[in-house]
Amino acid sequence: MKEYYDIVSNIITDDKFKSLKEDTHHNTNKYDHLIRVSKLSYKIAKHTKANVVETTRAGVLHDFFFGGRKESQANSYLNHPYTSAINAKECFNISDKEADIIKTHMFHHTFFRSIIPFINPDEKVKIKDGKPKSKEAWIVCVSDLIISAYEGLRFNIGGKMALYILFLCNFINIR
Ligand SMILES: [Fe+2]
Ligand SMILES: [Fe+2]
Repeated sequence: MKEYYDIVSNIITDDKFKSLKEDTHHNTNKYDHLIRVSKLSYKIAKHTKANVVETTRAGVLHDFFFGGRKESQANSYLNHPYTSAINAKECFNISDKEADIIKTHMFHHTFFRSIIPFINPDEKVKIKDGKPKSKEAWIVCVSDLIISAYEGLRFNIGGKMALYILFLCNFINIR
């Protein structure tokens, strides 16, 4: 993973970035979430011959916003990708392609929001705008989805209990 750390070292040692350890996110903190997503993005980019540097940098900055998603309009489910891209440009001078990767990382939410309109009805979405536009953007989007599901299950005791109960019921049924 030396290559991974060479790519992200100037970001993860930055004081502003390190302050994300204080932000709760998916039952963990935003700093750890960003490291997990970028590591998975890095590995997938290596295997799929995508641009490793762009994928990894966008992966580690995809949620580079401060505070909770319910704290302000700029941090909302659909706006935080744009806020993160602006912050990342300001602090780490990311490229336009890296900004685009960050802006489309919530495509799963955009998609579900557009087919189930009563989820966050105040937020206006267009599938076309939220769709990842490159292989690298798809990698970050999918990595975020996988890691978010993993964190939800690992760190959410209620969710864990529900899984155990589901497993137990299933086990009893098939015996
Ligand atoms: Fe996000
Ligand atoms: Fe995320």
